Amino acid sequence: MKSTFQFIVVLAIVLSSCKKDDEVACEPESVTLDETPYELNLGSFPPPITPEGFQLTIAKVALGRMLFYEQKLSSLNNQSCASCHSQANGFSDINQFSEGSEGDVGDRQAMAVMNLAWNNNGFFWDGRSPSLAHQSLQPIINPLEMAESHANVITKLNEIQGYKNQFIRAYGNEEITPLKMGQAMEQFMMTMVSNNSKYDKFLAGQAELSDSEERGRLLFFSEYNEFFPEDSGADCEHCHGGFNFENDLYMNNGLDEESDFTDVGRFNVTGLEEDRAKFKVTTLRNIELTPPYMHDGRFQTLEEVVSHYDEGIEISPTLDPALLATTSTGLMLTVEDKTDLVNFLKTLSDETFISNPDFSSPF
Ligand code: HEC
Ligand code: HEC
Repeated sequence: MKSTFQFIVVLAIVLSSCKKDDEVACEPESVTLDETPYELNLGSFPPPITPEGFQLTIAKVALGRMLFYEQKLSSLNNQSCASCHSQANGFSDINQFSEGSEGDVGDRQAMAVMNLAWNNNGFFWDGRSPSLAHQSLQPIINPLEMAESHANVITKLNEIQGYKNQFIRAYGNEEITPLKMGQAMEQFMMTMVSNNSKYDKFLAGQAELSDSEERGRLLFFSEYNEFFPEDSGADCEHCHGGFNFENDLYMNNGLDEESDFTDVGRFNVTGLEEDRAKFKVTTLRNIELTPPYMHDGRFQTLEEVVSHYDEGIEISPTLDPALLATTSTGLMLTVEDKTDLVNFLKTLSDETFISNPDFSSPF
């Protein structure tokens, strides 16, 4: 009895001294490379395509999460990735254009960070970034965003023992490099999976759609037919198809006629005339939570978006042929049809995604 008591006292002292001292005092021996794999929560999704030998690890994902929420990535230590990609808003920004660390404003709408593990054809609206590891280093040095240098970020992080420890767990040594930062943020962003919407539950036979949602679903997935207005669908699936409601391509969805092209999008990356004013076809998952819409955030509501496709398509040389085909009659949607389509889009909202503590700030 007495020895057990002594043991507990000794243990308590050891534990509390470890807690009281800063991490440096008690952690060096315990911090080692930890390559425990991270299991993606796939649900009904297929495994993402990754380069050979690629492995998500719990330690790298945790490091990426710290960096995603780290304000020291910005010049004034006042902005993190999450400032413009906030969880409550589906990891997007509800402002038309985001304000950077130093108060400057950009000219594109912040994109939603979700299900990017299944994007294999570039990142940003124009696809100028080939990988998430590359992409995640760009906001840091963008003068309109975090306006900082990679070298300064590394200096700042080097002053924090917790980061050194996490780099050891993730990579086996405490050296901080842009490559490692980018790869860790890539790993965290790849874990940000949204696959538990009402629509997913409907597919799994665990939820029923209302009559309006069901009519909207049929419109979304049926083809446009100018000769049979009664049966004609809105054919959104043509581009926003598959389990993630996108196609990994760059397209022109008729926002402007040629004389009004202000942002030429994909053309800036490829230099090809055929890519003028084409932009990434983004996922429609959680779309209700991520207004405003399009690369320039010109539409505030989903009703406006549906009206655009119904009767607002502008003709230009790079307009997608499927949409060009609809321009003589429009989509011929009734008021009820439009409401139904919007109600269906709202079934793609995933409350568990925006409240998942794994994706919230670790600080
Ligand atoms: C000041 C606001 C702001 C900050 C800070 C910011 N972003 Fe973004 N993010 C944007 C905007 C705006 C876009 C679209 C830019 C474009 O297409 O030119 C974007 C696009 C992205 C995309 C592309 C998504 C896709 O579907 O292709 C990813 C991923 C992303 N950001 C991650 C990050 C990460 C990681 C950080 C932190 C290192 C970060 N962002 C910081 C505003 C911001
Ligand atoms: C020909 C391909 C195509 C078709 C068909 C299509 N879209 Fe799109 N959609 C796009 C492209 C490309 C974008 C991004 C355009 C941009 O921002 O410049 C987009 C963007 C959107 C956005 C905004 C996404 C965001 O993150 O801001 C919504 C919402 C949307 N589409 C809904 C629909 C609906 C509803 C339909 C059916 C009525 C539809 N789309 C049909 C190609 C298409």
